[in-house]
Amino acid sequence: MHTAWTRANTVLTFFATVLSVLCVVVTVTDVFHKSDPPISVELKEVKRLVTHRGRQDQAALSMRLDADLRPAFSWNTKQLFVFVQADYATPENAINQVVLWDKIIENKADAHLKIRALRQKYAFIDQGRNLRGLPLNLTVAWNVMPKVGRLFTRSKTFAVGTLPEEYTA
Ligand SMILES: *[C@@H]1O[C@H](CO)[C@@H](O)[C@H](O)[C@H]1NC(C)=O
Repeated sequence: MHTAWTRANTVLTFFATVLSVLCVVVTVTDVFHKSDPPISVELKEVKRLVTHRGRQDQAALSMRLDADLRPAFSWNTKQLFVFVQADYATPENAINQVVLWDKIIENKADAHLKIRALRQKYAFIDQGRNLRGLPLNLTVAWNVMPKVGRLFTRSKTFAVGTLPEEYTA
């Protein structure tokens, strides 16, 4: 009885050790997976630029996105969380970051995003009335969620021009 227990225990310990060694190997080799995915994002059209309740500017944008994130997938990648963010500076805040759109990609085959008229999923509202004539940056960022190891984020930022000088009707 005692021997059977000891043997079972030894076998379990052995497999646990093999498993942790494998995890370390997976993590270490994946560290060498570097990628530089081709990405472009443009401001296609400002559909609306208004004052929200007379205190906060709000914009509705249409964007053009071409992001080939297939190189970001390695065999250790579980999924990507991709988002497009507006980056801009105002007298009130040196850094403003507003997430406009996001998407989860679970397969490498679905990782080439080509969207000719990308509509916002989330409202673009400024804290003040600063959006008229504003130089805007758009950032495409992707969180890489690995099967084993630590989550990390990469991004590319583009200066996409300025918003209109006047509110739209
Ligand atoms: C916008 O992008 C340009 C070029 O990438 C950068 O120099 C600038 O600091 C950015 N501005 C903001 C507010 O993020």
